[in-house]
Amino acid sequence: MKRFVLTVMTAIPFLIFLGCGWLNASSPGAPAEADKAAAVEEMTEKDKLFEPGSFENPQVCAGCHADIYDQWSHSMHAYAWENKWYQPDFMMAHEETDGLTDLLCGACHAPIAARTGLLPPADGSKFDATSRRGISCDFCHTVSGVDQMFNMGHVSEPSNVKRGPRGDGESLYHEVKFSEIHTKADFCGSCHMVVHPLTGVHIIDTWEDWKNNEYGQQNIRCQDCHMTPTPGVTKNPGRSAGMGKARDHIAFHTFTGGSSYVQDAVGNEKQAEMAREFLRAAAEVKLSEKVAEDGTLELTVDVHNVGAGHKIPTGTTYIRKMWLQVEVLDNNGKVVYSSGHIDNENHVDPDAVFFRKLFLDADGNLTSKSWRAHGIGYDRRIPAKGKDSETYRIKLPAKGDYTVNTRLMYRSFTQATINEYHRLTGDSYPEVVSVEMAAAQAKVKF
Ligand code: HEC
Ligand code: HEC
Ligand code: HEC
Ligand code: HEC
Ligand code: HEC
Repeated sequence: MKRFVLTVMTAIPFLIFLGCGWLNASSPGAPAEADKAAAVEEMTEKDKLFEPGSFENPQVCAGCHADIYDQWSHSMHAYAWENKWYQPDFMMAHEETDGLTDLLCGACHAPIAARTGLLPPADGSKFDATSRRGISCDFCHTVSGVDQMFNMGHVSEPSNVKRGPRGDGESLYHEVKFSEIHTKADFCGSCHMVVHPLTGVHIIDTWEDWKNNEYGQQNIRCQDCHMTPTPGVTKNPGRSAGMGKARDHIAFHTFTGGSSYVQDAVGNEKQAEMAREFLRAAAEVKLSEKVAEDGTLELTVDVHNVGAGHKIPTGTTYIRKMWLQVEVLDNNGKVVYSSGHIDNENHVDPDAVFFRKLFLDADGNLTSKSWRAHGIGYDRRIPAKGKDSETYRIKLPAKGDYTVNTRLMYRSFTQATINEYHRLTGDSYPEVVSVEMAAAQAKVKF
């Protein structure tokens, strides 16, 4: 069987040679067409590509694996390519780098197209029906190994042998084979770990973060949380196919994360609610407060990460936002202090306490554009099983009783990102929605 690894890293010498073309296509050093073609050639490793059609359409699997298909078809993996929340970012990267990022991004977001030579062109005009469905069944279940723990090191062996966590089932349609890698977090980690090929900045660090924390050390895997029905419900008994054996747990394929905004926007109410459950399971907020003689309220907010196997937030936190909302009300319900509120244009108070990551570009400015990352400009997130504290000093205006409301908030996109998407594409996007992950209240007296 032909093996194939899409080694984006082999393109590095070319990228370095092309220099600033990667970082700023409009600069004088933008790459010549021939150099660009050479780099793309190197990245595609054309001789190692599979024929288009080598991977099966998920619709074929739906015939027998109906429940799993239903779960997966509403997952963010199914939308990894055709998704108006991903495409504008991908196209910005494409334009600024003169196409050098096409296969880097595509390796993870459109793995079948990248492996069958249908990407580039970046506009997806050569994609077949299977490629358009993002990260689908036959991509994952024909992986025979992982040989690099970042930027997608999956080894593909597309064939009639479907690899999974058991190997003892019988199917009339395909052979089954036990595959150890599918039972490991590394299977997920090779994609959930993105490193900038030129600057080495760790763009997404979910896997290495997990690997080095308590969950990783105890081998509580990504699958144990993200391939179960909901947080706290760890078993999903049944059969994976009509003719299959009854099992006490069938791997759940919704791959739920925090994307309730996108799920609501595409009409998947059930998945949106599951995402909110995940967000609520991740954190707790605790308060300690004391009022000094002069009426200064010293409020300490502890945010605990109680449910996630990695920092919160994780992943593409640079386009997301997690922050604290603090509000102090007097006895008449009048707000006497507020931080982290949302303004009339749906932007979050810029002075709020934010938990997220942002990059520095080549000029030392903060940026949320991953391809421009030269360094980390801001990184404040809450470690797994750990906490982060913030102390607010608030001058209470007069003697009396006060109520303090504190909320940990999350949005999977910043409104600025969505406004930019709208400007670029002309598409309409619903207003970004915030989710309350945790809250706490206290009463104080001055
Ligand atoms: C004709 C019905 C049928 C079709 C079509 C089908 N499967 Fe299966 N598949 C089964 C049955 C039956 C089992 C065994 C289930 C059991 O006993 O647990 C199975 C098992 C599996 C397993 C588990 C392997 C293991 O042992 O861990 C995977 C993975 C799998 N199928 C993937 C796929 C994919 C991917 C497709 C589409 C390309 C597909 N199947 C299409 C019937 C089918
Ligand atoms: C992102 C990769 C990924 C995608 C996409 C994916 N799977 Fe899976 N699947 C897995 C992993 C990993 C496991 C094993 C989980 C574990 O060990 O807990 C699994 C398990 C299975 C099993 C065995 C279930 C059991 O517990 O007996 C079947 C059958 C299966 N998948 C079929 C499918 C089908 C059909 C699709 C598409 C509708 C699909 N998978 C999409 C990664 C994937
Ligand atoms: C082929 C690369 C790849 C593999 C393998 C992969 N993922 Fe993903 N995953 C992605 C991409 C890309 C996205 C983002 C898709 C989007 O939103 O456009 C994603 C999104 C997610 C999300 C976020 C969902 C949300 O609501 O925001 C979760 C959770 C997730 N994956 C878990 C897993 C787990 C668990 C595994 C292993 C069983 C896994 N992934 C394997 C590439 C991969
Ligand atoms: C102990 C359970 C647990 C484990 C283990 C775990 N996660 Fe999570 N994960 C969560 C919870 C809860 C959330 C929701 C909080 C959030 O979105 O930050 C989450 C969120 C996510 C998200 C969405 C982040 C976002 O906001 O966009 C991704 C992606 C993800 N996990 C991937 C992984 C991967 C990959 C692994 C393994 C390396 C893993 N998770 C291990 C519980 C877990
Ligand atoms: C090694 C695999 C990998 C590569 C390479 C990669 N991504 Fe991703 N991407 C992911 C994963 C995993 C997620 C989900 C993380 C999360 O949910 O927080 C994601 C999420 C995203 C999202 C958020 C989508 C949504 O629906 O919320 C955007 C936008 C995105 N990626 C753009 C890009 C661009 C542009 C590139 C190329 C410059 C790129 N990605 C390269 C793995 C990758």
